[in-house]
Amino acid sequence: MFYPLVSTAVLFCLSIYCGPLQAADTNTPKRHLTQGAVASPDQYGALVAEQILRKGGNAVDAAIATAFTLAVTYPEAGNIGGGGFMLVWFDSKAYFLDYRETAPAAAHRDMFLDADRQVIKNLSLIGHQASGVPGTVMGLWLAHKKFGSLPWQELLAPAIHYAETGFIVAQNQYQYRADLLQQLDGKTNFARYFGAMKAGENFKQPELAATLKRIAAKGPDDFYKGKTAELLVAEMQRGNGLVTMQDLAAYRAGWREALVTPWQDKQLISAPPPSSGGIALAQLLGLKQRRSSDFNGVAHNSSQYVHLIAELEKRVYADRAEYLGDPAFVNVPVQSLLDSKYLDQRAKEINPLAISATKAIQPGLEGYHTTHFSILDKQGNAVSNTYTLNLDFGSGVVVQGAGFLLNNEMDDFSAKPGVPNVFGVVGNEANSIAPGKRMLSSMTPSLLVKDNQVELVVGTPGGSTIITSIFQVITNLFDFKMPLQQAVAAARFHHQLLPKDQISMEPYSPLSAEVQQQLINKGYNLHTQGWNLGDVQAIQVTATTVEAAADPRSRGVAKVIAY
Ligand code: DON
Repeated sequence: MFYPLVSTAVLFCLSIYCGPLQAADTNTPKRHLTQGAVASPDQYGALVAEQILRKGGNAVDAAIATAFTLAVTYPEAGNIGGGGFMLVWFDSKAYFLDYRETAPAAAHRDMFLDADRQVIKNLSLIGHQASGVPGTVMGLWLAHKKFGSLPWQELLAPAIHYAETGFIVAQNQYQYRADLLQQLDGKTNFARYFGAMKAGENFKQPELAATLKRIAAKGPDDFYKGKTAELLVAEMQRGNGLVTMQDLAAYRAGWREALVTPWQDKQLISAPPPSSGGIALAQLLGLKQRRSSDFNGVAHNSSQYVHLIAELEKRVYADRAEYLGDPAFVNVPVQSLLDSKYLDQRAKEINPLAISATKAIQPGLEGYHTTHFSILDKQGNAVSNTYTLNLDFGSGVVVQGAGFLLNNEMDDFSAKPGVPNVFGVVGNEANSIAPGKRMLSSMTPSLLVKDNQVELVVGTPGGSTIITSIFQVITNLFDFKMPLQQAVAAARFHHQLLPKDQISMEPYSPLSAEVQQQLINKGYNLHTQGWNLGDVQAIQVTATTVEAAADPRSRGVAKVIAY
């Protein structure tokens, strides 16, 4: 799937800072369920999570094994050459792992501009300069160090197996690959590695198997300082890339405080900066609650519903563009953006009857392929993990000799103030490029917790649409009381302030013709994009049931596992 569409902070304190967040009373007894669950973007990830849980591994063990497996069987987004965020619920506490990529030391603010200060097309998307320093291997290692109960090697074994003996290529995967081959037009070595893929046939990746074996034996040292690091840097040098041995050695992943906000009778636990996701999702939920009387009797996905949600969304995306970036480099006013009085005032600006003028929506304070999986173990621990190469197959560059794809995450920076990135979102100073800085993300791995027990584990790919997809799944579940599968499958739509008055719909399930006409009459422009809105993987736990749902929009597999 290709989805184009808090003071100069204290230095990001990485592995040393931020203890676990105590989301509530930490003396709550451990939960004992009779089932665990997984919702994974493909069958291999689901099977491996199941095997690890049955072996006695915990949710984090299963997440590590699944993440490495998807780097093999889901190379369009699963990765070791990218980065992501892992939200862990363990023994009734929340932990947030930031393994987002960073800009290499040689990166600079105007690196994607030409002499006339115009953005050079595709430079932040295709080829070697598009890549940030990868974070996945360090992230999974830190997760293992803190929570792992099975040996590291055992967690890499399934991925090595699929890289060596192959996996069956899915039809949509084959299609994404064909689309990319066309766009790349020979500009990278992608065809040499993935040209031979055929839908329905077995596909092996021997170089990747060897790389995974080195990582199994040597841990992150191999990736950041050893043979894999050398191969990666040699690849960079072949293509004018910026990542050096020093960049790799200096890379740090780390534990941050998860973002926690009250919502209804629950706590929303989600992604803090450098993701925009948690703040934006909390704002959307908070604004909707404040305008709840406007929603009374408004049918799901009716034109009035779409309009009201778009009114909330345009304000949230205005704040995103102005204030959010890497907290190690910019002062992200998290408290102010979530302040109750601020949201009260912002909610008052919403016009239930007509479209608010785009230009009037200022930031409110004064002054295409990612993947997600959700896992729950019998002890009630959970992992919500979103990681990415950015677009399908990332930059299209494969590290020769190591067999893995590199990300094109540099496009998540704002190449020039006000110029939209591939997802159509704009940014300003807060998200400008600087050496070592993390690019702003929309990835929003999230949990809903009530009385210190997980009720929902949820996340999705989709670039800037991630936030609104998760918001719609949560409101479908808890405001419209839909069952999980229906809440995940229901038609979604998206608005992000710019393009002006545009509502995006998806081929999977467009809004009804009548609703579309009503929205056009109101003044909206409707746009059906060539990709679906997200690939949500969700698990819901109630006092008596565990349910898992994989989004019908793609090839995900969800399982409830009695063990
Ligand atoms: O971090 C981000 O927000 C983007 N790099 C995510 C990309 C994405 O979701 C692509 N997917 N479908």
